[in-house]
Amino acid sequence: SPSDPDLVERARAAKEKLGDKVFILGHHYQRDEVIEFADVTGDSFKLAKDAAAKPEAEYIVFCGVHFMAESADILTSDDQKVVLPDLAAGCSMADMATAEQVAECWDALTEAGIADTTVPVSYMNSSADIKAFTGKHGGTICTSSNAKKALEWAFEQGEKILFLPDQHLGRNTAVRDMGMSLDDCVLYNPHKPNGGLTVEQLRNAKMILWRGHCSVHGRFSVDSVNDVRARIPGVNVLVHPECKHEVVAAADYVGSTEYIIKALEAAPAGSKWAIGTELNLVRRLANRFAAEDKEVVFLDKTVCFCSTMNRIDLPHLVWTLESLAEGTLVNQIQVDKETESFAKLALERMLALP
Ligand code: 13P
Ligand code: SF4
Repeated sequence: SPSDPDLVERARAAKEKLGDKVFILGHHYQRDEVIEFADVTGDSFKLAKDAAAKPEAEYIVFCGVHFMAESADILTSDDQKVVLPDLAAGCSMADMATAEQVAECWDALTEAGIADTTVPVSYMNSSADIKAFTGKHGGTICTSSNAKKALEWAFEQGEKILFLPDQHLGRNTAVRDMGMSLDDCVLYNPHKPNGGLTVEQLRNAKMILWRGHCSVHGRFSVDSVNDVRARIPGVNVLVHPECKHEVVAAADYVGSTEYIIKALEAAPAGSKWAIGTELNLVRRLANRFAAEDKEVVFLDKTVCFCSTMNRIDLPHLVWTLESLAEGTLVNQIQVDKETESFAKLALERMLALP
């Protein structure tokens, strides 16, 4: 539905008043009405780098979810303020690994005698606490666009990886990109003693996968892949690596949101694509590429938005920009110094990956 013209005008006026003082970042899953005001858009890796690209901006307005705003705060200078237009924009996957649970897990690995040889690799979609844990224990952060490089790096540092918190990205990268077998991976359940695993299972595993997942990407199934192939002959199936392993195995291509966009840009006219990722992005791509005679459809028949990404809407953006323009700092995301220093270590290891 078209945006309220009054709100559009207010957002424009407030942004103009702020001028170079504000830098607006928009994740690809954001609503069209928000993307319209973003100075840069990107996947979580690109946005982590872009956050630090405008040191002169006093305010970084992050249109995305909480962990992204935290990462931006960690990577920008102390006098830059990172603002999340709705504080309730979290990520259910990131919430699946708490600092207490991860500390317990590390104790279990220590008891099993494998903590010294295990390297934590944490997906960007995790809290600053988990990133700090990762940095403290010699590990790195990864995103869906550099997970393979992160695993390669980690296996140079140690023998095993503790992958947090997305089991699917961990498993898909291990099996699809690194040639490991499903048997090399074990699933650590934070709600069970010792993760629900025997000491022997922990010792034999190459990849200890945390039992977290994205509920948005969890909706895609092998049936959705088979259905779309039957419906659209010759269709290319392209999915995000947060999808289940069997879905990724059934797809033709796998990649981050930025990869998905690049793949469609490079695709020949007349080609057909079914995309397995969040719906705001897929709809935007379907509209954009229809003009180039590329057919883009959503992989599933149901509608699946990321409900927390969608919390950032035009009214929240207007309120944020108008408050900042009046000199009132709202919804600042600030990571404490101690957490920040270790989390930064882990993020910098990621940024230094080849
Ligand atoms: P990317 O933007 O890195 O592909 O990640 C998708 C996602 O789920 C972000 O929350
Ligand atoms: Fe989190 Fe999934 Fe939403 Fe990404 S799409 S922010 S992983 S819940």
